[in-house]
Amino acid sequence: MQKITIAIDGYSSTGKSTIAKQLAKALNYIYVDTGAMYRAVTLYALRKNFVGKDDDLDALVQDLPMIHLEFVPNKELGISEMYLNGQNVEKEIRTMDVSRQVSKVATIPEVRYKLVEMQQQMGKGQGLVMDGRDIGTVVFPNAELKIFMTASANARATRRYKELLDRGEIVSYEEVLENVQKRDFIDSTREVSPLKKAADAIVFDNSHMGLEEQFERVYDCALGVIKSNS
Ligand code: DC
Repeated sequence: MQKITIAIDGYSSTGKSTIAKQLAKALNYIYVDTGAMYRAVTLYALRKNFVGKDDDLDALVQDLPMIHLEFVPNKELGISEMYLNGQNVEKEIRTMDVSRQVSKVATIPEVRYKLVEMQQQMGKGQGLVMDGRDIGTVVFPNAELKIFMTASANARATRRYKELLDRGEIVSYEEVLENVQKRDFIDSTREVSPLKKAADAIVFDNSHMGLEEQFERVYDCALGVIKSNS
């Protein structure tokens, strides 16, 4: 059967990575979480104090050639984990500290050019599910299947809040809601490749949809597209 490229874009905390992982597993495709790449660059910037109290985004741009990102498979967990300059940073990139800064870092054109080029190389010639904000519009505008995920801000903040509490972070619901809304605003209004639905994307609003129902729908959709491309 013909292997296709599946682009999953959408707002923060809409469960893009959950559905993308399920889909990649069911189809035996590669999964790439592009948000993890923007988060890893942000972690590098935080460690170097390029973002935080005083931003020095020019210094971050200067340092870009020194930032090496890699997805390394973790066979035990059955997932790939993000490595920044040889170090596993999978946990650190998911903290609120990184979430607070990442949208700003993702507005930097040089950062986007570097990461988009890496993403395009990763998918060449293989079955691929990639999630992010600009996959169907910029990274793979010719993807055979494009999905755009959305849900109410409250539904998304509630999910994210639970996730952070489960990981032991001390945060308030209000802070998480504010972060989700702020990131959506920055992501949708930035100049370079803003978050927007590709004209040919299928919209999934999962505010009131369970994980199983969502998976079944998206999976059926993917099988339909794969068959029509074979
Ligand atoms: O998917 P996520 O929430 O982990 O992504 C973190 C941030 O990275 C998000 O606020 C916007 C940015 N991002 C982006 O600009 N383009 C992508 N393809 C993926 C993420």
